[in-house]
Order: sequence, then C-alpha cells, then structure tokens
Amino acid sequence: MRLKDKVTVITGAGAGIGKSTALLFAEEGAKVVLTDVNEKIGVAALQQVLNKGGQAIFLHHDVTNEEKWKKVYETVISKFGQVDVLVNNAGIAIQASIEDCTYDQWRLIHDVNLDGVFLGTKYGILAMKANKKGSIINLSSIEGNIAEPHLAAYNSSKGGVRLLTKSAALHCAKSKYGIRVNSVHPGYLHTTMHDRFSEEQIREIEGRHPVGHLGEAIDVAYGILYLASDEAKFVTGSELVIDGGYTAQ
Ligand SMILES: NC(=O)c1ccc[n+]([C@@H]2O[C@H](COP(=O)([O-])OP(=O)(O)OC[C@H]3O[C@@H](n4cnc5c(N)ncnc54)[C@H](O)[C@@H]3O)[C@@H](O)[C@H]2O)c1
Repeated sequence: MRLKDKVTVITGAGAGIGKSTALLFAEEGAKVVLTDVNEKIGVAALQQVLNKGGQAIFLHHDVTNEEKWKKVYETVISKFGQVDVLVNNAGIAIQASIEDCTYDQWRLIHDVNLDGVFLGTKYGILAMKANKKGSIINLSSIEGNIAEPHLAAYNSSKGGVRLLTKSAALHCAKSKYGIRVNSVHPGYLHTTMHDRFSEEQIREIEGRHPVGHLGEAIDVAYGILYLASDEAKFVTGSELVIDGGYTAQ
C-alpha cells in the first residue's frame, strides 16, 4: 500500500509502461486515472485494473491538446477531490536521421513527447500546488542522455524532457510547492513500441545492453512507483536510469 489513497493520473496507459504502471499503482492502493488517445486499448487496460479490484477510471485524452488537459484535471478533481501523482508517459518514436526526418515527423514527435509533457506538467502543477504536495514523473529515455544517428527527433524530444523536468523541479522546490518532478530513462523494453523490429534487430539491440537482454515494462513501473511514493520525498530534479547498464559503458 505504498500509494494508499493517492490520486494518480497516467497518460498513454493503454499499453506498455503506462498499463504496467496503472496495474502496479492500483495494487499499491492508488486511485488510478488511465488516459490514452486510443480509447479501445485504454478501456481494456481499465478493465484489467478493475478486475484486480483497483479503483480506476479511463479518460479519452490526446496529450497534445491543451484544452483536453484542462478537462482531465477538472474531471479528476471533481471525481476524486485532488491530484497527487502525474505520470507523463505517452510517447511515440520514429526512426529517422537528421537528413531523413521530415519537418512533419519532427513536429509530430515533439508535439507528443515534449509539448505533451510541458502541458501535463504545467497544468499538473496548477492542480497540485494548493495541496502543497505532489509528484510528477516524466518518461524520458536513455535516448534523452545519449544519441543515435537514426533518432534525431526522438533524441531531441527526450533530451528536452530531461531538462524541462529539472527546470520544473527547481521552480517547484524554490516556490515551496511541495511538488517533486523527476524523469525516468529506460533502456529498450519489450513493449509495442518495438513491435516493428525484426528478430535480428532485437538480437542486435539486446547485445547493446550489458545484461544481454531487453527490459520489461514492469522493470520501469517499479521505478515510477518509487518516485510516486513518499519514500522519494527528498528526490526531485533527478533522472532515474533503468537500462540494464546500457549507458554505463
Ligand atoms: N519501450 C521502450 O523501449 C522505451 C524506452 C525508453 C523510453 N520509453 C518511453 O516510455 C513511454 C512509454 O513507452 P511504451 O514503450 O510503453 O510505448 P507504447 O507504444 O507501448 O505505449 C504508448 C501509449 O501511448 C499512447 N499514446 C500515443 N500517442 C498519444 C497521445 N498523443 N496522447 C495520448 N496517448 C498517446 C498510445 O496509444 C499507447 O497506449 C514513451 O514516452 C516512450 O518514449 C520507451
């Protein structure tokens, strides 16, 4: 019961890390608001949380839409009275080098991965600050710390999330809001994000991780749980790397 009665919002909760985090948060006693742009998988994930006895709702939500963010917080506060935890998890990836990346792809990646996190964090702080407590967890990536030649826009967006997180953390700390803001940096995981990779590509990526294999969504969900819980009360502006040793080399 590490999150007993905490009201938590998780974006992109229909699949992968978001779904795993929603299930774990519910097991730990949280009230869980799952949001996703894909209603079908979002409702299916909600059903899984409810089947486990969790208290949860689903909201259809595109993280790039500013008005929708305001609506999400209005709905959560009218239903549960407050917001304690926000996990800015929704994200997309496109493989393209600086030469190949179109301007439309560049804008789409930044819209979802960086602008979505900006909006969630900005309005999250407004929703949390009256209560003088809160935890915001932003999904960056190891690709926010190191670069790959074929991930120009993804690297840029995730690097942006890393420093936006620190700026927001400093603002909240100096304003004495009691709100912590941290980023999480996973290595490659077995999630739908990598469904398009061939067996051969997966083996090559596994080889880049010193542990010799990819991670699972739950490996990251446990890190998010720690940052969401009061155990992390002295942790803000930090970056939690969960990558099987990828960036230690
Ligand atoms: N999978 C990995 O290896 C990995 C590694 C490092 C970082 N990450 C990051 O972790 C986060 C989750 O990744 P994942 O692997 O679970 O992805 P996933 O593709 O399995 O799930 C992402 C979810 O986000 C939703 N989504 C996409 N665009 C959205 C939008 N505009 N508004 C709301 N929801 C939207 C999708 O519908 C989906 O349910 C992402 O930010 C990703 O960049 C993933």
